[in-house]
Amino acid sequence: MSDDQTEYLLKVENLKAYYTSTRGIVKAVEDVSFYIREGEAVGLMGESGAGKSSVALAILGIFESVAKYGTGSGDETNRELWDQRKDARKKGLVSKDLGKDLPGVEGKVFYKGKNLLSLDEKKFREIRGAEITYVPQSTTKSLNPYTNIQLQTAEALWAHDDDDILFEREVMRRVLQALDLVELGDVDIRQALKPKEFSMGEDQRILIAMALIMNPVFMIMDEPTTALDVGVQRRIMDAIHLVREKLKLTMLLLSNDLGLHAEASERIGVMTGGRLVEFSDVITILKRPSHPFTRAFLMTNPSMEMMRRIREKGLLLRGIPGSPPDLTDPPTGCVFHPRCEYCEDRCKTEVPEYREIEPEHWIACHRYGELPEFDI
Ligand SMILES: Nc1ncnc2c1ncn2[C@@H]1O[C@H](COP(=O)(O)OP(=O)(O)O)[C@@H](O)[C@H]1O
Ligand code: SF4
Ligand SMILES: [Mg+2]
Repeated sequence: MSDDQTEYLLKVENLKAYYTSTRGIVKAVEDVSFYIREGEAVGLMGESGAGKSSVALAILGIFESVAKYGTGSGDETNRELWDQRKDARKKGLVSKDLGKDLPGVEGKVFYKGKNLLSLDEKKFREIRGAEITYVPQSTTKSLNPYTNIQLQTAEALWAHDDDDILFEREVMRRVLQALDLVELGDVDIRQALKPKEFSMGEDQRILIAMALIMNPVFMIMDEPTTALDVGVQRRIMDAIHLVREKLKLTMLLLSNDLGLHAEASERIGVMTGGRLVEFSDVITILKRPSHPFTRAFLMTNPSMEMMRRIREKGLLLRGIPGSPPDLTDPPTGCVFHPRCEYCEDRCKTEVPEYREIEPEHWIACHRYGELPEFDI
């Protein structure tokens, strides 16, 4: 990676994000580094629990508030740990200096060359929700059931209008424009309706409109197509294309849906057990992946085309053996070693270096170069 921070719109360096839980520290994000250029769509792919959403929360500067008040983090020990984090931060120290793992976020997140993690909350808030927006995974909890769509979509505009300069007419014009952009349909009438009048797929498009209303530069979308049926997924993908084409937005797409990445991501980072194990352009990742985890992941989620080739070659479709690592006690060495068919002794003890093996292709595997060709 070049040292010029302005070459990238976003550059994440050695990001760590740890939760507390009744079972101990959860190492949700460990030493993750990647970059996104302006106008690019980058995807993070990996099994559920790999740390994708936690990366997003850390970039947005809301990881710690979510982690502190999340389930199971209210007991005495946890409170003590968070106090230690606060103390360490005041002194400019990190877990490594203290020789002890602390909850919270460490590392660097450069946005337009500025490290977001060193900003105070007020400055961060000016960027979050305005230049950088987040579209959460659509659940029944994402929209407020009691307020109509028009007011909910307008919320970000009001929230960032500290100087009270926006006229109501202007706000309503922008609400209509945003809802129209995601092709909600009959928006001038339907904006007055409450969430229960909309389908799951429409909910997701309303969430996208809510994120678009500030004319953001960079948008993070968390599992935009998961839990939706195929027809609805198609409409969401169309909405994503539209947003990319019309607004030239830079995007980070978090999903384990290969179809979504194949269509929408130009570059993909592959995560397992809190670590980024491979990062490259979409063709390399989906057609000639190098990391054993990426290969195994593709085989468990094959595209139609892959299925055809697998059948032609008389191969068997296999799941990844074993279960994803317990992040309160992640494996030593390579995080994938207990499940990797190519594991050798050093994989069990030495963490593989995340290195650039060819231009813009990063991988963390000791045995890169010794593995058989991936031929599917
Ligand atoms: N609020 C929380 N408190 C403790 N652990 C959490 C919390 N949220 C997520 N985790 C754990 O962090 C890890 C990464 O989760 P997450 O970032 O949600 O992964 P993904 O988005 O890839 O599914 C998982 O082991 C998950 O159980
Ligand atoms: S470092 Fe070793 S265990 Fe890890 S993916 Fe590579 S070969 Fe497998
Ligand atoms: Mg997630």
